[in-house]
Amino acid sequence: MCTGSIRQGGGALEDIVSVTPVGEPRQKITIASLREKKLQHQPITCLTAYDYASARLVDEAAIDIVLVGDTLAMTILGHPDTLSVTVDEMLHHTRAVRRGVKHALLVGDMPYGSYHASADDAVRNAVRFMKEGGAEVVKMEGGEKRADLIRRMIDAEIPMAGHIGLTPQSVNLMGGYKVQGKSLAAIEQLMRDAVALDRAGVAFLVLEGIPREVAAMITEEVTTPTIGIGAGPDCDGQVLVFHDILNLTFTPPAKFVRRYGDAAALITDAVHAFQENVVSHQYPADSESYHLSKETQQALETVLERKRGMRR
Ligand code: KIV
Repeated sequence: MCTGSIRQGGGALEDIVSVTPVGEPRQKITIASLREKKLQHQPITCLTAYDYASARLVDEAAIDIVLVGDTLAMTILGHPDTLSVTVDEMLHHTRAVRRGVKHALLVGDMPYGSYHASADDAVRNAVRFMKEGGAEVVKMEGGEKRADLIRRMIDAEIPMAGHIGLTPQSVNLMGGYKVQGKSLAAIEQLMRDAVALDRAGVAFLVLEGIPREVAAMITEEVTTPTIGIGAGPDCDGQVLVFHDILNLTFTPPAKFVRRYGDAAALITDAVHAFQENVVSHQYPADSESYHLSKETQQALETVLERKRGMRR
């Protein structure tokens, strides 16, 4: 990246990546504005982001919620699942995303193990997301059984989001990433989970990997906005993983993923072109090089000439 005084021909990063339409001041998204969107039947948009550049692009494209998801364990850190990412690793990325987000609601994701040992531990970790990461809402997986903990967090002035259905931190208990809520008993439990979290006061509720019909029932039942991922079109909003929509995951996409771009192809082409340009001496060109002024060049030649003369 070009920084400081050597940024000559190229523009500032702000000029290069800004996609905000001019003349349209955007409102800051808050928990209240999400509720309003639900009431007005205006779809809510949410994408994950894990670093400054992607956060800026997502925010400037008018996405409502930016989630620093624990999926960063897989998308960024290359782990096979979300279980091993730590609070410190999550915070490192949350801080970077914070610097890129101006208007969207910034949500931090409590990783596995950060809220399971005790309520005190959970509050302490969630507070870190707000104080150190700049998160405005903190998300936690689990339904009815988390309702008391979520109340405790909200009492500690931590706005909370819920996440039910296919909860990836329970992958080993679920026996894999399987669609949830397919039997009548499972549907009843999901409804209880949703209502318990709604009553506890969550800012929004992520519904992951459940049948469309069940997501529609939950969305109708709860006052909090529902944000679906693999939960059909009847939720109040939709969330997808940034790397999924851009083909950056190196795995076949799940049924619900729609690819909106092929960043893998774009990056591969650019990297190949750079590699070929360097080995064939086509990069850098003279126009991409810095030059001495004429006076300094002449002075240098005089010095070199003198040295050559002394050697003869
Ligand atoms: O961690 C994450 O990215 C998430 C979304 C998939 C909702 O929780």
